[in-house]
Amino acid sequence: SGSPERLHVMSYATVDLTPTPEDKFTFGLWTIGWQARDPFGDPTREPMDPVLAAEKLGELGAYGVTLHDDDLLSPLLTGDEREAAISRFEKAVDAAGLKIPMITTNLFTHPVFKDGAFTSNSRDVRRYALAKVRRNLDLAARFGATTYVLWGGREGSESDAAKDVQAALDRYAEGLDSLCDYIVSQGYDIRLAIEPKPNEPRGDILLPTIGHALGLIDRLQHADMVGLNPEVGHEQMAGLNMVHGVAQALWAGKLFHIDLNGQRGPKYDQDLVFGHGDLLNAFFLVDLLETSGYSGMRHFDYKPARTEDSEGVWRSAAANMSTYLMLKQRAAQFRADPEVQAGMAAAGVDTLREPTLNPGETVADLPEITDVDVEALVRGYPFVNLNQLAIEHLMGFRG
Ligand code: GCO
Ligand code: MN
Ligand code: MN
Repeated sequence: SGSPERLHVMSYATVDLTPTPEDKFTFGLWTIGWQARDPFGDPTREPMDPVLAAEKLGELGAYGVTLHDDDLLSPLLTGDEREAAISRFEKAVDAAGLKIPMITTNLFTHPVFKDGAFTSNSRDVRRYALAKVRRNLDLAARFGATTYVLWGGREGSESDAAKDVQAALDRYAEGLDSLCDYIVSQGYDIRLAIEPKPNEPRGDILLPTIGHALGLIDRLQHADMVGLNPEVGHEQMAGLNMVHGVAQALWAGKLFHIDLNGQRGPKYDQDLVFGHGDLLNAFFLVDLLETSGYSGMRHFDYKPARTEDSEGVWRSAAANMSTYLMLKQRAAQFRADPEVQAGMAAAGVDTLREPTLNPGETVADLPEITDVDVEALVRGYPFVNLNQLAIEHLMGFRG
């Protein structure tokens, strides 16, 4: 079936779209390994050996691979069998030149989690969930993973009678703080990253957006150890602007990790290839990541479409990376274009960085509004010009 990395290597005069580990591209085992079982249909692909996943990701130029505990190990495996499965995978990851920068817990598949994990109405389930995370934090430390993602897909409800939301938030905070206590007690170099999502699988999920999660983090005892893993599709499912959300996470110093994928508007979680949803928003997201000093992973949490065969799985994996690199190149051209710079100046973009009050001045010092010639303040803001320039760069008509 040919070498999949070749199929997707495209080169423009100015940019090589072959990914390298310096690009910090990572993939979950559950992404490329998705067997494409959906609520209406059986799997269309065979299970993927995690060792093969590591080999292929290494060949494609990824930096690393990520996983849920249960992607690699049945929860019931113990002793020598568990150790053998872990070390077999570790060897494959090493041989492929990959890292394991993040791992996470499956707190959603088993029926025990049907009403949630940290916020289940069953105290015994909550205790089991924390113990499941504890075991996997030990594995994270062994793998050298410094980010631990927590996606609370089952934390939520379908009925407003079902859940005391304020109590649930207390339990959520208790769970996060007690896990941080454990990390500190073990001396692990690990930070937690909450992944917001508005719905699916629960009708309404707690911490549905970046903003909700930031609000909770602020109230934690270990707020410094907890940040965010926002996902493109999840914000867009809520009709929100991912670029604004990520900018606010950066502003709060909380962008610990990011899930890149594509989504076409508020509907079920599509997990398309990055850029295959709102391409212009993806362009500005890459522009933001690349200009903000963000040095973390570019993690693709997509699903190869159910219609793809195994070759299509690797083509689609490569497509995420080449799309990112294309957008990165176009965004850099956009920023360097003198016409864009003039357009930004005309639109007043940079002047927003200037504080509104003079040093020492207070609101009380401002003139009476009746003394202000308000009509003289009305001006045009040529933002559409900037958007069109972005489109011209994106489509290759400039630069
Ligand atoms: C989803 C989520 C998950 C999480 C994963 C890591 O919508 O299913 O995006 O893919 O990212 O469980 O925590
Ligand atoms: Mn998702
Ligand atoms: Mn995700």
